[in-house]
Amino acid sequence: MLVLGIETSCDETGLAIYDSKKGLIADEVFSQIDIHKEYGGVVPELASRDHADRILPLLKKILRDSGKGLDDIDLIAYTAGPGLKGCLLVGSTFARSLAYIIDKPIISINHIEAHLLAPIMEYSDLSFPFFGLLISGGHTMIVDAKDIGMYEIMGETLDDAVGEAFDKTAKLIGLDYPGGPLIEKLAKEGNGGSYKFPRPILNQPNCDFSFSGLKTHIMLTWKSSGKTDQVRKDIALELQNAVCDCLVGKLKRAHQEKGYSSIVISGGVSANQFIRNKIDNFADSINVKAFYPTKKFCTDNGAMIAYAGYKKYEAGQIYDLQGEVKPRWPLDELNELI
Ligand code: KG4
Ligand code: ZN
Repeated sequence: MLVLGIETSCDETGLAIYDSKKGLIADEVFSQIDIHKEYGGVVPELASRDHADRILPLLKKILRDSGKGLDDIDLIAYTAGPGLKGCLLVGSTFARSLAYIIDKPIISINHIEAHLLAPIMEYSDLSFPFFGLLISGGHTMIVDAKDIGMYEIMGETLDDAVGEAFDKTAKLIGLDYPGGPLIEKLAKEGNGGSYKFPRPILNQPNCDFSFSGLKTHIMLTWKSSGKTDQVRKDIALELQNAVCDCLVGKLKRAHQEKGYSSIVISGGVSANQFIRNKIDNFADSINVKAFYPTKKFCTDNGAMIAYAGYKKYEAGQIYDLQGEVKPRWPLDELNELI
């Protein structure tokens, strides 16, 4: 079976074809970073217009790369939410039109679920149940992933997402968007212990996070500093240390509650090697295995949508929003659909 995956929820246009026998046979992502860089963040109107421009050439490319024709596609999976409404509508309308033309089934995919399922595509030893730690630009949460389509949110951010903390800190200290990768690079030359940033709500007996206070603290630190390159590096390192303590602290709590032996870490921030190392150390210490997507699958892509489409189809969870999109679509609402 061939599944076409279409991702347009934010600032990456991603299209891919997943073959249930051979795995991924084509995968293309166009990142809009250069378009949004000068504004310091994603501009929704520009993002949706660019998706509309790119989507057809990308489809042609993946068909060419895979040597397949439109008629070979058996199922179309597209991101229906959460995300930016105008962007989601581009993908949804495109997917529906294609499905109509080739007369094949269509399946609406929740972007967060796709991030969580992506590592199963890559690791044969990963199976349910597991903890999902989703750390991206828009979301930060710990999920009890019981089975396909069955998720319980154990905790989530009360304000900013981790990626936002990285991006806002980067902007403050004069780095480009998106700040995450640049912060990671700078932190390598930071001196540990130069500052001590707060670990908001770490000691509360739940799995929630809060990062907006951290951002305010960093702003005050930066303003009263000499604003040198070394200060930038030290702030970058201490931001990573504070974030890691929060992530590990709450994973520990989740593990005490459920005791699963696998953790899936996904979303854009999971590309960060410093964070991976800290989580690996923790996971080793409690005999748990941490699974990360290959770095190119950490940020948004069509491959994870195609794969999620296949897994949902296989599980009989064929859900079509019929043209509606869901800018907000909490993961635990999926339980009601199966
Ligand atoms: O999953 P994603 O592509 O989009 C959302 O669904 O939000 O995540 C993008 C986020 C951005 O905030 C970006 O700064 C962050 O992931 N990011 C990183 C790294 N690479 C991307 N954050 C920290 N370290 C990285 N290496
Ligand atoms: Zn994402």
